[in-house]
Amino acid sequence: MTDINKKFPKDFIWGAATASYQIEGAYNEDGRGESIWDRFSHTPGKTLDGDTGDVACNHYHLWRDDIKLMKGLGLQAYRFSIAWPRILPSGTGSINEAGIDFYSKLVDELLEVGIKPYATLYHWDLPQALQDKGGWPARMVVDAFVEYTDVITRALGDRIKDWITLNEPWVSAFVGYQDGRHAPGHTSQDEAILASHHLLLSHGRSVPVIRNNVKDANVGITLNLTPKVPASPSIADKKAAIWEDGYVNRWFLDPISSRGYPEDMVKSYNKDMSFVQQGDMDEIEVPIDFLGVNYYTRNIARSQVVPEKENLPQTVFREGEITEMDWEVYPQSLYDLLGRLRFEYNFPSIYITENGAAFPDEVNGDGEVHDPSRVSYIQTHLESVNKAIQIGVPVHGYFVWSLLDNFEWGFGYSKRFGIVHVDYKTQKRTLKSSAKWYQNKIQENV
Ligand code: FCB
Repeated sequence: MTDINKKFPKDFIWGAATASYQIEGAYNEDGRGESIWDRFSHTPGKTLDGDTGDVACNHYHLWRDDIKLMKGLGLQAYRFSIAWPRILPSGTGSINEAGIDFYSKLVDELLEVGIKPYATLYHWDLPQALQDKGGWPARMVVDAFVEYTDVITRALGDRIKDWITLNEPWVSAFVGYQDGRHAPGHTSQDEAILASHHLLLSHGRSVPVIRNNVKDANVGITLNLTPKVPASPSIADKKAAIWEDGYVNRWFLDPISSRGYPEDMVKSYNKDMSFVQQGDMDEIEVPIDFLGVNYYTRNIARSQVVPEKENLPQTVFREGEITEMDWEVYPQSLYDLLGRLRFEYNFPSIYITENGAAFPDEVNGDGEVHDPSRVSYIQTHLESVNKAIQIGVPVHGYFVWSLLDNFEWGFGYSKRFGIVHVDYKTQKRTLKSSAKWYQNKIQENV
């Protein structure tokens, strides 16, 4: 029996996560180049209310205060992402020293106060100049990514040991190039599949570069993983769940685990796969030190092939609380997922690199933000993580998404994920109850 009250291992890392475009602002300062998210958010009709990341949480200027906040919360680690267009404004070629300087100072200060930096190289802000050359569907982007990786790991690798190559390549590829809901807003399945391959290849090829530039590097990739549950015991719904699992999860998990692209999905897409060149798969399956897991919810899969009326009646329904994102709160699936990653895929080490929830938080008359739903979300998901550790899953850390309320992509500022509330007019930060709860939780366990 697992014990949900059991403390976490002493060396478990407690952190919080953010991403450059979502918090930094200063979109055109100190030589930063344009990113696909600048272009997309500045295009009318693309984001809710036309919101952009131009200012966001103004973290580019308020980072010292934000580090103080983190220190106050007792965070041991901070996962942030580096904006590629700050480092190489045109994607390749000339280096913007001011951009490197920003992250360099940030890292120095984090280390100074005893917070370990975990850097993500790519959290969706591709330099627009590279999109103009074809973006992720074009193979040239792989060399560009390797060049960027080399530049930034040479500059910061003496101080940052923990590196995440990509954040959620499924979202970059399929939401950006197929569904059109994210930058660059294209709607082509062909492009999305090409993009997914070039993302994976960029990951694989940059891992040795990081190891070469960073002594004692700890390198991984972060995937968004969503367990898919059949809506009924019908064969059709089971098939739907297997397909969706292939689409979102296995398409990325399998290649990095030396299994190649899942055959059922290759068959289903029915594309000319000649873009996979000789040696690509070997590069993609380079061993990693850890897998980063972003987990938010599960999905119930209902067949669209068999019409509803001819399918078996649905027997599985959402039962957990529903968040502002319309996502079901379902911590049990995180436990199941972690078990799968250990016993089916055998990853050597796992970090929860994102987990959290959006709720409509408000500052009350006393200047406080009470967010009991978020407290409960984090608490129950941590219980799942703890249970997974007790059955032998090597989970080594947890990063709550997010430190701050921030720019939630196509939803603009309408979804608040932070454990710290941000008033976007004044940039005032207010700890929510969840931040205080988390602070306590960390204290209990370290
Ligand atoms: C993840 C993203 C992160 C944030 C959360 C809510 O898919 O990595 O930037 O938007 O969802």
